[in-house]
Amino acid sequence: MTAVGIDAIEIWTGKLRLDLPNTFAPEMGEDPEKYTKGLGLESSSFPDVYEDIVTMGANAAKQLMDRKGLTPDDIGRIDVATESAFDNSKPVSTYIAGCLEQVYDGDFHHANKGERKFACLAGTQSIDDAYNWIKAGRNRGRAALVIATDTALYERDDPGEATQGAGAVAMLITENPSIVELSTEQGYGSADETDFLKPNQQFPSVDGKRSVQVYLARMREALEDYESVSGDTHPDDFEYIPFHTPFPGMVRKAAVLGYRHMTRDTEIEDELTSEIGRQPREADFESREEYTEAIRDYMDDLKGMDQYREWYAETIEPTLSISRNVGNWYTGSVHIARLSALRHALERGEELAGQQMLVGSYGSGAQAEVHAETIVDGWTEHVEAVEVEDQLARRYDISFDEYELVHDVHNHEKEVDVEAFTTPEAEFVFTGWGRMNERRYEYVE
Ligand code: CAA
Repeated sequence: MTAVGIDAIEIWTGKLRLDLPNTFAPEMGEDPEKYTKGLGLESSSFPDVYEDIVTMGANAAKQLMDRKGLTPDDIGRIDVATESAFDNSKPVSTYIAGCLEQVYDGDFHHANKGERKFACLAGTQSIDDAYNWIKAGRNRGRAALVIATDTALYERDDPGEATQGAGAVAMLITENPSIVELSTEQGYGSADETDFLKPNQQFPSVDGKRSVQVYLARMREALEDYESVSGDTHPDDFEYIPFHTPFPGMVRKAAVLGYRHMTRDTEIEDELTSEIGRQPREADFESREEYTEAIRDYMDDLKGMDQYREWYAETIEPTLSISRNVGNWYTGSVHIARLSALRHALERGEELAGQQMLVGSYGSGAQAEVHAETIVDGWTEHVEAVEVEDQLARRYDISFDEYELVHDVHNHEKEVDVEAFTTPEAEFVFTGWGRMNERRYEYVE
């Protein structure tokens, strides 16, 4: 069977940086540790005045095409995943293809283009579509370009404001990939939920606390569904477990739940019994509430156990390093979690070929998806080439006053004229609106 998976990854971060503990927290009258310890965030990325989901996506895609030496003819499909689209008809992928055609010979006229929507899950769903297209033999030897791009802004003073971010991840999906091969097995947890939505409005309506519970419930369902096809999972099966990361504190909650689930009826549960007892079984309780309470207590104890802490430090913590410094990239978020883990492994010289990751994606509204990925020989070269640290370091640090202006510039309801904070170089920029209210772009040398 042909292996299909991710052959190359590139990112593009919004070029501005907001320091959460030092710049944002004091103005919000909050303790800086709410951000660093509670949510697990150091800073957020924001788009400069001339950036948006198209420029970030096109810039990530151009980096990827240049590095791989691709021309438009090599790409048979361009799917953009976003929850920040500005057009209900014309997909963002057409804008991005238009940008790329400005700088490459040839065109994408024979590439199938689309836009995927299911909140933050859409990036993973686009990879899924590409996988199916290649497996069905419809790709004519060509690759799929998947771009997850978002400007994750919340209404001013919404609790979600702390978790904002902006950036794009471009991924090339091919046969015989160079980074990871995707499993055929998948699990879904899906239900009609009203936790986070944007009913024809730019900023989301969010029930924050409930969204956290819905994330956990759907992720658990997806893991159970995955196990129904793959067999039981065990913590030792996976080198890393990248989750959708709206903020690292969310993953802390998902990880303990996942570990409890995976260790049930295993030697790890037996080892822990003398210290924290066995996991509560629903049959031993008179009501669902009592059982849930007992599970909660068990997980509180579990978090303090050495076995759990070591597993978390090795398997989960390495997935959070980029997210900690950029905030939520919505559709791109789980994909920067995977990249963080692989960068960490690279720095430590880990030999990962043949090892597995379990990937937990999530989108509000709500659906979780779980699948496995096998890291393939040669992954180091392709992960090393991604300029993560340089991109993060070159961002311009904004003051709180500047943050307020930047939020207004990207608010579709407001018209404000603000000078750019950085100078674009060798990248696509937004230049204004055309006669049919379309957004226009140019490549700046
Ligand atoms: N020191 C250490 N920790 C502190 C602290 C301090 N001084 N102050 C607060 N904390 C901790 C809190 O205890 C809490 O941690 P726990 O949940 O582990 O107890 C954490 O910091 C956050 O504090 P609050 O709960 O008080 O924060 P909040 O009420 O202001 O908002 C939020 C938190 C609801 C997540 C909010 O940021 C939000 O609405 N975010 C947007 C929605 C979201 O991201 N939901 C996640 C699931 S949905 C999803 O994943 C899709 C998506 O991308 C949006």
